[in-house]
Amino acid sequence: MTVSVEEPTTAAPLVRLTDAGKNYGNILALQGVTLEVSGGEVTCVLGDNGAGKSTLIKIIAGLHQHSEGTYEVEGQPVRFTSPREALNHGIATVYQDLAVVPLMPVWRNFFLGNEVRKGPRMDIAFMRGTTKKELLDMGIDLRDVDQPIGTLSGGERQCVAISRAVYFGAKVLILDEPTAALGVKQSGVVLKYILQARERGLGVVFITHNPHHAYPVGDRFLLLKRGRVLGYYRKNEVTRDELTGLMAGGTELEELSHELEATGGAAAAAAHVLEEEVHELGIGHGAPGAQ
Ligand SMILES: Nc1ncnc2c1ncn2[C@@H]1O[C@H](COP(=O)(O)OP(=O)(O)O)[C@@H](O)[C@H]1O
Ligand SMILES: [Mg+2]
Repeated sequence: MTVSVEEPTTAAPLVRLTDAGKNYGNILALQGVTLEVSGGEVTCVLGDNGAGKSTLIKIIAGLHQHSEGTYEVEGQPVRFTSPREALNHGIATVYQDLAVVPLMPVWRNFFLGNEVRKGPRMDIAFMRGTTKKELLDMGIDLRDVDQPIGTLSGGERQCVAISRAVYFGAKVLILDEPTAALGVKQSGVVLKYILQARERGLGVVFITHNPHHAYPVGDRFLLLKRGRVLGYYRKNEVTRDELTGLMAGGTELEELSHELEATGGAAAAAAHVLEEEVHELGIGHGAPGAQ
């Protein structure tokens, strides 16, 4: 990454949240989130359960509205009242439990809700051919786009959803834990398509709790913890191990190891292992760059 002295101000980012927050009644689910998503960039949102990841993407995706701060799309303040409205602004979301019709062919799912007609009939040849071509363009070579989508692996289905969003003109692609239910190999395939979407100039928001998936593909990393921002880094500001350490809560591990040590016996041995881990990861006493 080049660091110029004065970056020329280019177009506004696709998505910008400034000090955004959300409460559900008395529950403060998210606060103080500032985030920018530009085209050709992957932003990873990391955090444990309850960190606020889903709340954040629901705001961006138009499912919920922020209750504090501002949300802008290409410089314009927005307050979406439905995912359809967000989609009209080019913001597409691929949820973990994909809304597919398992028994319908791949091409039918690709065009679901956007069917192409030729007179009174569906233009099957066009939809079939386009699906095949679009998938190929993303490097997905399906033997047969007529096969029911339910016969594809989880990873392949995610990939179909990604290329579909690209085809229908998404500028921002939000992926909600696309690799959470996948094995190593299939996760790798999905990560590859995340990079493809970036190459095509989309701004990708990739939600995950796995720093090993996030680090290789991410340009920016937003770490959330209990609804607050723990850190927001560009790739050159953080290493994978630091990211892992922050995720694991390095300081908490260290405290735990001290506690165990004080107990003595087998606990002390476990404490030693923990201590070494903390040391190896270089995460004691707060990682560099953390807020
Ligand atoms: N619809 C809701 N009503 C009330 N509380 C909610 C709702 N959705 C999420 N929360 C709360 O907000 C916090 C953040 O949740 P969430 O955004 O789902 O986190 P994550 O996706 O990182 O696991 C949690 O404490 C959760 O219980
Ligand atoms: Mg969630």
